[in-house]
Amino acid sequence: MSAAAAAGPASKRIALRGDLLDFTAAPAWGEVESEAVRFRPDHWLLIEGGRIAGVEAEAPGEGWARHDHAGRMILPGFIDTHVHSPQLDVIASYGTELLDWLTTHTFPAEARHADLGHTEATAALFLDALLAHGTTAAVIFPTVHRQSVDALFAAAEARGMRVIAGKVLMDRNAPDDLRDDVATAEREMEALIARWHGKARLAYAVTVRFAPTSSPAQLALAGRLCAADPSLYMQTHLAENRAEVAWVRELFPEARSYLDVYARAGLLHAKSVFAHGIWLEDADRAALAAAGAQIAHSPASNLFLGSGLFGWRAAEDAGVAVSLASDVGGGTSLSMLRIMADAYKVQALAGQRLTAWKALHAATRGAALALGLEGEIGSLEPGSLADVCVWEPAAGPVAARRAEVARTLHERVFAWMTLGDERNLVEAFVAGESRYACSATA
Ligand code: GUN
Ligand code: ZN
Repeated sequence: MSAAAAAGPASKRIALRGDLLDFTAAPAWGEVESEAVRFRPDHWLLIEGGRIAGVEAEAPGEGWARHDHAGRMILPGFIDTHVHSPQLDVIASYGTELLDWLTTHTFPAEARHADLGHTEATAALFLDALLAHGTTAAVIFPTVHRQSVDALFAAAEARGMRVIAGKVLMDRNAPDDLRDDVATAEREMEALIARWHGKARLAYAVTVRFAPTSSPAQLALAGRLCAADPSLYMQTHLAENRAEVAWVRELFPEARSYLDVYARAGLLHAKSVFAHGIWLEDADRAALAAAGAQIAHSPASNLFLGSGLFGWRAAEDAGVAVSLASDVGGGTSLSMLRIMADAYKVQALAGQRLTAWKALHAATRGAALALGLEGEIGSLEPGSLADVCVWEPAAGPVAARRAEVARTLHERVFAWMTLGDERNLVEAFVAGESRYACSATA
């Protein structure tokens, strides 16, 4: 099924009333009044056949199903550019840094996905949880098991969601029950790509867990696949933790840097999504920018696992695209609002101030651009698929009071971003279909 067919019946017309917020360009650092912000208070968002048809100041006439959310905010659905579907079971696990966390908590949870029933139930639960947090599109790591990819894509197709994912590659330095090998990986990837890549709103990502768990031969296989089909994405982890970086240096002494391991294997390109990228050198940032690759900045995970503070400003100044990611279960919430609040705090520690505009842009239009999907998601532009969410501007007395005394739009939206979470979500639409509605407020 094509993306157009996934959009639903052409005749269905709905109109959402609220304060519309999206972006027409990338906001600059520190600019609280930005021309990139498109704020249209008390407007109607028109959705026809699953796509955004237009925006009107006046209520549309007969033939439109009207949903009056006056006083609420309507934004493009959030895009989480790095998250692990099997890791809800290990979110909020105490006491470890990355490498220890993987072996103690994460690998055992992923091994359970050898069971088909478990992986199917997990996929459904996970995607419904994303939607209940206002995330309508995501770049996802399932597990090494091919059925985990089938289950995730099937569940995403059933929900009409834009999902980018692929079988996790790991043929060394991992438990027996989570290791594949080069021949099996090649066979399974080819079958999965043939089955899912380009179907409905799904795309395949060649998914290298991280350099330490793939042999040079497996990295080379991953690179060959990317070279053979430039429409494939590639996702992996990069320079997240200092012990990990030191291990990569030992395993790949011939490489100039961690990023260079991937570059040499043909895994650094415009469709590459690198999670973290904390411990980089200037030459790495230049190489990422030259390739048009993106960093999926995962602040909640970086704080929780004690990995380090990402240099967003340095990455952006070098020309690298930066998107935002939950990295659950290293991260502690699927709420992209919470992720943005953590991103602000990480930048504050580095002496930078992240505006609400920059954070929201990175989680919507910025991520869409970096993924090459700006015609489909990330904005309220006519023609885009109607992946949109309706938000309560304040939940609870503290946020309500803060919103009441806010004097500027940025002040109000920044307080929402900082104090809000999934409890603010009223309704999530995917290609114009309501896929989540909060029973308390809808
Ligand atoms: N590096 C390799 N695997 C993982 C993972 O599952 N989560 C995080 N945060 N980093 C990783
Ligand atoms: Zn991760």
